[in-house]
Amino acid sequence: MRHLLSTAGMSPAAAETLLDTAETLKKTLLGREVRKLPTLRGRTVVTLFHENSTRTRVSFEVAGKWMSADVINVSASGSSASKGESLRDTATTLSAAGADLVVVRHPASGAAHRLAGWLSSTNTAVVNAGDGTHEHPTQALLDAATLRERLGTIAGRRIAIVGDVLHSRVARSNAYLLSALGADVVLVAPPTLTPVGAATWAEPGAGGTVTVSHDLDAELPTVDAVMMLRVQAERVIGDVANFFPSVREYSAAYGLDGRRLGLLPEHAVVLHPGPMLRGMEIASTVADSPRAAINDQVRNGVHVRMAVLYHLLAGKDEGA
Ligand code: NCD
Repeated sequence: MRHLLSTAGMSPAAAETLLDTAETLKKTLLGREVRKLPTLRGRTVVTLFHENSTRTRVSFEVAGKWMSADVINVSASGSSASKGESLRDTATTLSAAGADLVVVRHPASGAAHRLAGWLSSTNTAVVNAGDGTHEHPTQALLDAATLRERLGTIAGRRIAIVGDVLHSRVARSNAYLLSALGADVVLVAPPTLTPVGAATWAEPGAGGTVTVSHDLDAELPTVDAVMMLRVQAERVIGDVANFFPSVREYSAAYGLDGRRLGLLPEHAVVLHPGPMLRGMEIASTVADSPRAAINDQVRNGVHVRMAVLYHLLAGKDEGA
């Protein structure tokens, strides 16, 4: 693996290798007072964030540090990007300055792929930490790790991804990955927030399927997991009011509250990538219930990102 840009086209075997590595790392570090492995000593990881982030940026930094990499955080507002430098010049500068790997988040869909192209003649690897409304592969991997942990298996499970699918890179990366791993994914959204062609997101040959529904109450009794999405207002072009009449109506039709939690089978688990808008897509009683695996997702995010850094950096020496 040279870069991690997308879950589209990722083989189930490659995904399972990453998930197994994450699980091993988690077990290795569990209960340890000093969480530090020497694996990436002497490697330099730069996180380049052109959008706000709490958990993704922090967990990449923690992941790198727990494996002894030197981690440098660059945000667009504090870099020469704010002076008008292009993303290409920023990327080649980071590579020339010694970055072995750049973790990039950018508002433009396709930015991570462009960056990987510009760095193709270097040894610098690129990890996509979210590009516009396109993909967020490490989020999908940490969601898969959490589902595997809570449900035991992913193949044959039915998983609802609910809310603003149109502006969500999390939904797309999850639909590709979970269907490749054999799950049946149902995207539940108002028609105005359903992307054209979403039902074709399962790749040819995927073990699972991707379908679309607009009726949350009808889907809940049949799912093993429900993944709630925030309405990503910062990515909406024009007025949010063009997509749904009011927050109240949105919550009434697509919010997960106590009544809807009761419609889920006993074993079903609730996920949310965060940040949550409590009271809108998810009620506090649900977010804080034992059925929710939201903090597990964050914890698994560190181990999954450790696994990704490991396979991209240490794996190189093994010719993997
Ligand atoms: C998501 C993102 O940035 O795409 N958050 C995350 O990475 N945990 C989803 C969101 O912002 O709503």
